[in-house]
Amino acid sequence: MNVVEMRGIYKYFSDTCANKNVDFSLRKGEIHALLGENGAGKSTLMNILYGLYTYDAGTITVNGARVDMENPATAIRHGIGMVHQHFMLIPQLTVTQNIFLCAKEAGFVLNMPTLEARVEEMNRRFGFRVDPSAFVWQLPVGIQQKVEILKALARNIRILILDEPSAVLTPKESDELFSTLQSLVREGYSVILITHKMQEVLDFSDRVTVMRAGEVVDTLNVSDTDAHALANMMVGREVFLQRQTKPQPTGEPMLEVCDLTVKNDKKLDWVKNISFQVRAGEIVGIAGVDGNGQLELGEAIAGGRTLESGSIRLCGKDITRSSIRRRLDMGLAHIPDDRQKKGLVLQFPIKDNILLSGQRSKQYANGFFLNTKKIEARTRTLVERFDVRPTDINLPAGSLSGGNQQKVILAREVDRGGKVLLAFQPTRGLDIGAIEFVRAKLVEERAKGAAILLISTDLDEIRSLSDRILVMYEGHITGELPYNAPLEQIGLMIAGHDTTTIEKARGDVQ
Ligand SMILES: Nc1ncnc2c1ncn2[C@@H]1O[C@H](COP(=O)(O)OP(=O)(O)O)[C@@H](O)[C@H]1O
Ligand SMILES: [Mg+2]
Repeated sequence: MNVVEMRGIYKYFSDTCANKNVDFSLRKGEIHALLGENGAGKSTLMNILYGLYTYDAGTITVNGARVDMENPATAIRHGIGMVHQHFMLIPQLTVTQNIFLCAKEAGFVLNMPTLEARVEEMNRRFGFRVDPSAFVWQLPVGIQQKVEILKALARNIRILILDEPSAVLTPKESDELFSTLQSLVREGYSVILITHKMQEVLDFSDRVTVMRAGEVVDTLNVSDTDAHALANMMVGREVFLQRQTKPQPTGEPMLEVCDLTVKNDKKLDWVKNISFQVRAGEIVGIAGVDGNGQLELGEAIAGGRTLESGSIRLCGKDITRSSIRRRLDMGLAHIPDDRQKKGLVLQFPIKDNILLSGQRSKQYANGFFLNTKKIEARTRTLVERFDVRPTDINLPAGSLSGGNQQKVILAREVDRGGKVLLAFQPTRGLDIGAIEFVRAKLVEERAKGAAILLISTDLDEIRSLSDRILVMYEGHITGELPYNAPLEQIGLMIAGHDTTTIEKARGDVQ
């Protein structure tokens, strides 16, 4: 029996169609994985089912009855609970207070001893060991997640949605989570597991729905499919940008990362003992699903994040402890991940943004004063060369489209003449024309001898630009692939599937 039926769901975020005619069904007592790359539309679909997002078209049926999912309270009333990627607990309150907060049966006065006893009872029933009187802020992430699950279960839900639950967990915590989920389904609960990790699908799920670019590719029994087929469905779209050139002979190593370990904001080791080099004249692509340490790696190289251990050399010189400013002066160009926050001062005119980091350079300064004429002339040349539109250099950068903002950053970074270019998601959110322009410029810089480190979750981008591909998974570089590696192989590796299994998959096919 289907406990949930979603039919023809459409969801738009302004121009983005995040869910396009999506059908999804959940059977009683199954673990149903929702698999797909970043941006495929998984979270959106489940936020709709949980009543957090409105939908533009489609119907939702729960236990045979049509439901208008107005808000999470409606979802909970129909037995649907959700554990988000970012927990929604109140750290200053205790476990028990969090679990029964807002719960109707708690009445007006929270009778702590009674409620704590109920938490203990749930602990026994679900095999948890969560201290009911501990404050949430005191607990490790793995336990906080259990509190979230208990909070959902306390509302008598029968359908549990988890959004990438293992992303924040250690391997041991993640094993515990999956045995919990398995015991829940044995008791007749139904579970929807949003994931991009192949192994979680293969090891723990009964059925899988693969999403890509807002649409459902297929729904299958896990026993009828394999990693090979799933990887293809997940990433096997047409590459619209063909690779432009083959790798060329490379020069000296310009960026050398040695045994680097970096913590994330939650103080966990998130980049683990990574070493690699980028040589003059090559583009090295770091492929991986968002959240596997790329952000921390990029920040560590740019100088915005302290290292736990390891070293970084730029153009042959140690920069491990150098400031951001110093790194820029020594030849690091940087296209940051968030152009609006880190790349530009939006209220400043284009001309100031293009020469922002050039302000210190002597060529534009005349004593205390900036040489306005020179700056304007230079900016006009760059605006033209980088095809920034509109061309009025006095307009605020914030008035430009995303693609043109990115061109301004690119113009500035390339103009500074850096020998090493760190390009972080350089085309995220841009339209096709701007994507092609930015990519062509990167290839041009490489031809001129720049050493380019490209960090991107977009496999098309990785494949169309990289001369070598490094795969990052759970903080490690798990492999290096040549520029012409099959998409499917990269797909398997970014999903944490090791190459031995890939070879086995190959063998099965032949
Ligand atoms: N709140 C939002 N506002 C605008 N766009 C959004 C929002 N949430 C998601 N999107 C866009 O919808 C698409 C699907 O996103 P999402 O459902 O988060 O994907 P997934 O969970 O599979 O990574 C993406 O293009 C994303 O940028
Ligand atoms: Mg998501």
